[in-house]
Amino acid sequence: MEKVQSYINDHKARFLEELLELLRLPSISADPAHQASVTATAHRVADFLREAGADAVEVIATPGHPIVYGEKLISPELPTVLVYGHYDVQPPDPLDLWESGPFDPVIKPTPLHPDGAIFARGSSDDKGQMFMHIKAFEAMQANGALPCNIKFMIEGEEEVGSDHLGDFCAAERDKLACDVILISDTSIIANDVPSLTVGLRGLSYMEVTVTGPNRDLHSGVYGGAVANPINILCKMIASLQDEHNRITIPGFYEDVAVLSDAEREAMNQAPFDAAEYRNALDIAAVHGETGYTTLERVSIRPTLDVNGIWGGYTGEGAKTVLPSKASAKISMRLVPNQQSDKITALFTEHIKAIAPASVKVEVRAHHGGEPAVTPTDTPEYLAAHKAMEKTFGKAPIPKREGGSIPIVALFEEVLGVKSVLMGFGLDSDAIHSPNEHYGLFNFYKGIATIPYFFEYYAALKR
Ligand code: BES
Ligand code: MN
Ligand code: MN
Repeated sequence: MEKVQSYINDHKARFLEELLELLRLPSISADPAHQASVTATAHRVADFLREAGADAVEVIATPGHPIVYGEKLISPELPTVLVYGHYDVQPPDPLDLWESGPFDPVIKPTPLHPDGAIFARGSSDDKGQMFMHIKAFEAMQANGALPCNIKFMIEGEEEVGSDHLGDFCAAERDKLACDVILISDTSIIANDVPSLTVGLRGLSYMEVTVTGPNRDLHSGVYGGAVANPINILCKMIASLQDEHNRITIPGFYEDVAVLSDAEREAMNQAPFDAAEYRNALDIAAVHGETGYTTLERVSIRPTLDVNGIWGGYTGEGAKTVLPSKASAKISMRLVPNQQSDKITALFTEHIKAIAPASVKVEVRAHHGGEPAVTPTDTPEYLAAHKAMEKTFGKAPIPKREGGSIPIVALFEEVLGVKSVLMGFGLDSDAIHSPNEHYGLFNFYKGIATIPYFFEYYAALKR
């Protein structure tokens, strides 16, 4: 292990240069115009895997974006760790809010990252975190210190719902056979407060379109007598939450797992500074479901949020128009034991039920995903715990997170394998936002911690 750690130290500068190269490729999975960049990124990841010493490296086509696979199988007697990550990124919009180009990585210090952070789309989510695994593997491999078999599956459709990964996993059960899945695509509480993610929320992502008259109308000639789809849509959306910020869709909470007082008390022990939270977001007060703390609202409670809303005239100046159509994209974050199909159906039914006769309403489901909880009494959790304790000098705190990685539930269902969520990002990394960044501290801490995970995991499975 000493050799592995000094190898990492000796090659730090190159590791960073290589990551910057990956960050320059605009692998925006949502945007068909970037298809070629997405594919090029898959090939670059494959090359990095090969250069690090992986065998059987392939870029596997899917009906969507390709999956990168690679492996190093050293002995059938040893356990196998499957590393999952994604090389695709979110669109960078709004571009004018970036202080430097989203695909032109710049390193500069911030108050939370005095040693510097890499500013670029995908630096934290997830190229930077995924790349730590390739470099940790290189360090173990170069020093003959790989203690387990390792497989890599790096996908290019995570940010658009991993639509083709389920079929791939079902068709390639043998290829993907493993004892545990290791993922770095989540965050820690702070750089001096390590944590391990033990829960993720599920997701139902919907789009609602309300249509009124067959064309845009003069808002004076017709206004007052014809339903305005924007007014109606806003009213409908507003009615989806009551005065306690509880979601009003009938049956929505039916399957929500209720945590014991002891469990809730334990999770509220995690360090959380309410004033710092408000200051960082420039808000005077937090908001949410009555009876729950902020930590609970972003982990064990489901949500409903409008992600985008449009319709009518939004150009310069004024145009008096009563629009024909209005639309909104709405996400619902789900918790155990809610099921995305059921929530999608309940949402659709309810929206149709509350729509007045004066408009037509269309509801479309985008992607869904199931929530996940990972146990803390497994060899893999213990190995991750010990690894973080070793490199941070502090035991990590188990923490449920609000984001979603739908494939975690899917891996369990299709492959029957649990995941370890050992991420190294910070909530303040601005993932999906302008000026996304990833601390150099976090990047190097991740590379240093991963080999300990492998060492402890192999020892615990022996
Ligand atoms: N890495 C994130 C998920 C995440 C972020 C989990 C922070 C925990 C903490 C992932 O790339 C992501 O953004 N997932 C999407 C879901 C997907 C179906 C588009 C999300 O959560 O919105
Ligand atoms: Mn991610
Ligand atoms: Mn993401």
